[in-house]
Amino acid sequence: MKKIGLFYSFNTKNTSKIAEQIKKSFADAEIDMVNVETVTSGQFLAYDNIICGVPTWFDGELPNYWDEFVPDLEDMDLKGKTVALYGLGDQKGYPENFLDGLGILGEILENQGARLVGFTSVEGYTFENSRAVRSDKFMGLAIDFENQGSLNEERISAWIGQLRSEFQ
Ligand SMILES: Cc1cc2nc3c(=O)[nH]c(=O)nc-3n(C[C@H](O)[C@H](O)[C@H](O)COP(=O)(O)O)c2cc1C
Repeated sequence: MKKIGLFYSFNTKNTSKIAEQIKKSFADAEIDMVNVETVTSGQFLAYDNIICGVPTWFDGELPNYWDEFVPDLEDMDLKGKTVALYGLGDQKGYPENFLDGLGILGEILENQGARLVGFTSVEGYTFENSRAVRSDKFMGLAIDFENQGSLNEERISAWIGQLRSEFQ
């Protein structure tokens, strides 16, 4: 498997914890951690296998640091890139916007030609609406620290098993 670039904000609490868990559980892969708050287009384009960590903020929006990188992403040709997203949200607190940020970022990356992988079942989650759902699947790994934190470990490990066959 080719080297993986894992992009997330180093200043987050929950997103950073999941990034560390992914790196630990994916011990047989070579993973570079990259801070999305200071990332350049060149750093993003350096990888063919990409993981992005994205919490949802502001009632269904991307956090500022991802939002600020969107214009750069919209200038990129991402054909040939395989991207897996993990999203963080709170299904009880924000049932109308659960994980919207995951869907927003996923759509942008797809529009630029990236192939999204790592889709997971919506079974086991309760919410009203989510931009991250397509054909009954989340467009990535769905993490809910507030309500289902005890499931993080098994969800991450199943997802990594899936990425082993879906990454290049
Ligand atoms: C002000 C605020 C707004 C939020 N908005 C949403 C939302 O619209 N949808 C959602 O699923 N989660 C929402 N959340 C939950 C966060 O995504 C969740 O707590 C996440 O784990 C935060 O990750 P972080 O610590 O890495 O930023 C919100 C949380 C806060 C505090």
